[in-house]
Amino acid sequence: MVRLRQLREWTGLSYRELETRSRNMGAFVPRSTLASALRRNALPRQEFVVTVVRACGLDPVPWARARRRLAVRLATSGHPAEPAPAQTGPAPHQLPPSPAVLVGRDEELGRLVRMLTTTPVTVVSGQPGVGKSAAALRAAHRIAHLFPDGQLYVNLRKETPGAEPPGPAEIAALLLRSLGTEGSQVPADAGEAAGRLRTVLSGRRVLILLDDVASAAQVRPLVPCGGQSTAILTSRTPLTSLDCAGHVRLRPLSRDAAMEALERFLGAERVQAEPEAVRTLADLCDHLPLGLRIAAARLAARPEWPVRILAERLADERRRLDEFRVDDVDVRASLALSFEDLAGSADEQNRLAVCVLGVVAALPAGQVRLGEAAALLDMPQDTAERALERLVDANLVESGTPGSYRVPDLVRLFALERRNELSRCCDTA
Ligand SMILES: Nc1ncnc2c1ncn2[C@@H]1O[C@H](COP(=O)(O)OP(=O)(O)O)[C@@H](O)[C@H]1O
Ligand SMILES: [Mg+2]
Repeated sequence: MVRLRQLREWTGLSYRELETRSRNMGAFVPRSTLASALRRNALPRQEFVVTVVRACGLDPVPWARARRRLAVRLATSGHPAEPAPAQTGPAPHQLPPSPAVLVGRDEELGRLVRMLTTTPVTVVSGQPGVGKSAAALRAAHRIAHLFPDGQLYVNLRKETPGAEPPGPAEIAALLLRSLGTEGSQVPADAGEAAGRLRTVLSGRRVLILLDDVASAAQVRPLVPCGGQSTAILTSRTPLTSLDCAGHVRLRPLSRDAAMEALERFLGAERVQAEPEAVRTLADLCDHLPLGLRIAAARLAARPEWPVRILAERLADERRRLDEFRVDDVDVRASLALSFEDLAGSADEQNRLAVCVLGVVAALPAGQVRLGEAAALLDMPQDTAERALERLVDANLVESGTPGSYRVPDLVRLFALERRNELSRCCDTA
């Protein structure tokens, strides 16, 4: 419709002149219809396009073809052919700053950027503290210029364990308000709000980063499956049931990258003075960026400490989780969120998974094979497998080869601390 409006302005013809010309062509369009149709943004009917273009003295065939292509695009993208409200105010630029240090993620970032420019939805998943938010932010900043109508950011992380995460209606309302919709115009119903969001996004190029999504159900109606916008979701679970999504799963860093991260955080001098202690420290952090970040922050606050001192303190398993805390950044709290999601779930499979976590974490090195786990838990093998796979999905257990499972050290220590709560889940599962 914008093009037709520009065409009329270009010819300098008035509505009255267009009305006369259309009457002379035998396809009468009253000037009131012309004026109101040209004011709207909805896709006009084919005959209307042909009549207006011919009345303007041009060949209508390419215009008719362009209109048909547009109609097909709108139909396949699932966008209703209703007018997209004009953007009011400046485009939102809500992305928090890109992380200053991001090591060992070149390959993943390359994949993320490729996916974001070719897939409507990209999910970045991995265990708590593995660096999902950091990688997603870095990738979002790299491609932000491709989304000039705005970059939206919503942190869905629950502040307190046990709190209800926001639902789709609440998230849609946040996004709509950020895109200029008056609060009073935001529908309360989740379905309506999601529809309204699709309308507002249609014809716009917007990047949406939803950080720490709890479940696929929380965002399913909101993520754009077509059109020109893109969404990046980070989540502790892989959200594999979302339609039209690409997936990038992050693992802890390699040992070399973990040591490089420590060097970037602490400075080359301190690291080169004690390479062995730095290697031990990296290993004790499970090569997990959050652990490395906390360890580095603690050492930064104690410039007189040799790295070896912190490594020795962390080596004591009973103290390790206490040591992994600085200000409000805390490995234990980050694990607690994942754990509470499963333990407090209405789904008894999730509670069974927590019970299984407690049993496996108590084994030497937290390692087990499926047959062994089933015998130990006194349950059929397929039940044990379902529970263990759920833990793999929640990124609380690793499975290198089918049938073999390992609880990462920090998760294992956390599970041992919460042994009583975990075994309560065995009674309610
Ligand atoms: N590849 C990396 N190199 C260095 N630091 C990182 C890396 N990835 C994450 N971090 C830092 O580790 C901490 C945890 O990362 P974050 O992205 O918040 O983890 P997640 O979102 O998976 O819980 C942050 O302080 C972040 O800046
Ligand atoms: Mg995060």
